[in-house]
Amino acid sequence: MLSRLRLPIFVGALVMGTIGAAWYCSLAAADDPPPKRDRAADPMKSKLDDSQQILEGLVNEDYEQISSAAERLLKTCKKEVEPARRGKVYRQHTTEFRRTLEKLVKVADQKNADAAALSYLHLTMTCIDCHKFIRANEASDGDTHRR
Ligand code: HEC
Repeated sequence: MLSRLRLPIFVGALVMGTIGAAWYCSLAAADDPPPKRDRAADPMKSKLDDSQQILEGLVNEDYEQISSAAERLLKTCKKEVEPARRGKVYRQHTTEFRRTLEKLVKVADQKNADAAALSYLHLTMTCIDCHKFIRANEASDGDTHRR
């Protein structure tokens, strides 16, 4: 009964996947490239997902989920576009963000719920701080913002 049900689901998923891939490729091959801002925002959207995954991991005490989401965030952080161009203060925000993530992975691996909760709060502050910095910097258009 179950296996009879599973086959159509599998085939369905395969078909959807193929259509999705074809659609994605046709998008990628389109003449006008998507606006720069969208491409920059995409990895950030996944950052938001991953930080929600961390919160979910914390409430369920699922340390595996916490550290794998934090690892993904670290990767996103490394892929970040031209941090050098954004100046010294921006790089400091990136460094703090990375260190907080490394700490989070460490304490999650130690199954230390309290330390992981604290690191998560710290992480959230680093998101907010960096974004605040970017906004302030957009107004002055240069690395002139000092805290
Ligand atoms: C070191 C700096 C930095 C840190 C830390 C950071 N971000 Fe970002 N974030 C950026 C930059 C740069 C952009 C792109 C903004 C732009 O180009 O206007 C961005 C964009 C975003 C966007 C998309 C906004 C939009 O344009 O629609 C989201 C969502 C986001 N970040 C979430 C997060 C979350 C959640 C965290 C923490 C887990 C985080 N960010 C940490 C620098 C940072």
